[in-house]
Amino acid sequence: MLRILNQISGGDNQGGMERRSAILGSGHYVPTRVVTNDDLAKIMPTTHEWIHQRTGIRERRFIEESGIGASDLALPAARMAIEQAGREVKDVDAVLFATLSPDHQFPGAGCLLIHKLGLPGVPALDVRNQCSGFMYSLSVADAWIRCGVYRNVLVVGSEVHSTGVEFNERGRDVAVLFGDGAGAVLVGEATRPEQGLRALELHADGAGAYDLWLEAPASKMQPRLTHEMLDEGKHYPAMNGKQVFRWAVEKMPEVVHSVLQKAGLTIADIDLFVPHQANMRINQLVASKLGIPEEKTVHNIERYGNTTAATIPIGISESWREGKIQEGSRVLMAAFGAGFTWAGGVAVF
Ligand code: UT7
Repeated sequence: MLRILNQISGGDNQGGMERRSAILGSGHYVPTRVVTNDDLAKIMPTTHEWIHQRTGIRERRFIEESGIGASDLALPAARMAIEQAGREVKDVDAVLFATLSPDHQFPGAGCLLIHKLGLPGVPALDVRNQCSGFMYSLSVADAWIRCGVYRNVLVVGSEVHSTGVEFNERGRDVAVLFGDGAGAVLVGEATRPEQGLRALELHADGAGAYDLWLEAPASKMQPRLTHEMLDEGKHYPAMNGKQVFRWAVEKMPEVVHSVLQKAGLTIADIDLFVPHQANMRINQLVASKLGIPEEKTVHNIERYGNTTAATIPIGISESWREGKIQEGSRVLMAAFGAGFTWAGGVAVF
């Protein structure tokens, strides 16, 4: 306890360097089944043109068969992140699992993942903050590392959306947006002075709670799910798309300015911007408001759609492997989603 308090109150280690957390490795995994906009147009009233013009999405991945959960997609992503960090699975001493589509309502998908990884006894915390879930989890990992509670924290964002959307006219505004996939990072102690998570900021506003939500099953209802609810499609997500869009293009730039200020950096210092991937138009507007050039902005929504909590770690993992992230790269992240929740962060790799 004394050691923890010492760290919180600014105690130092590593010969005078304040303990700081850093993303040491990343990984991702998407199912092999590619579903194009034209494939969706065959089963519901939509078109490639409508989807692509409004969202930038061309295709997404869906699980190959029923029975594959978020914890299954997370497993290869987690192993990849642990390996890139130069760690072994047994080194992981805590797991944070961000998802809005856990394998089951309970227990948490994190518990299923630690079992699959072979890590009995390691704490596993599910974080249910939708599109901002990865950033919220990163913030928890950062605090744990800085306080000396854990040394190697696996942070996962993983989603299976394809089993939870409605492929018909009623659900088409939502169904075309989402895809399945997982991303992961291994967060540990920074070892170089510049390296690490330099600033992180989290926000929420329940005023937008019912602009993007899943009504049932609902524990406030007796019973939680009825045949009528099923007939009315209450077990599928409902979205006020225009409202979400408006909030996202306002809040993401706002939080970016704030984290940059906290990190003592400016837009010009940023090497790469990894925004949440909900809509290409949202990200282009946000990047242009911020003055971030197109070539510094990561887009993979064309290929994967919106994988909610997984978008940012997938973006980091792909960019790292493509050489867009290197040692010393300053990477800006921003997310917005259901809740409403939003978040921003700056990491030096
Ligand atoms: O991670 C955070 C989650 N979500 C978001 O960030 C989403 C933010 N919002 C958006 O990206 C946009 O609002 C959408 C792309 C979802 C929708 O674009 P929009 O320009 O706001 O379209 P709309 O919902 O106003 O619908 C326009 C029309 C409607 O028809 P009418 O009433 O004009 O006749 C819809 O019924 O498009 C129709 N429509 C579709 N047509 C073909 C809705 N979905 C589809 C579809 N295909 N998939």
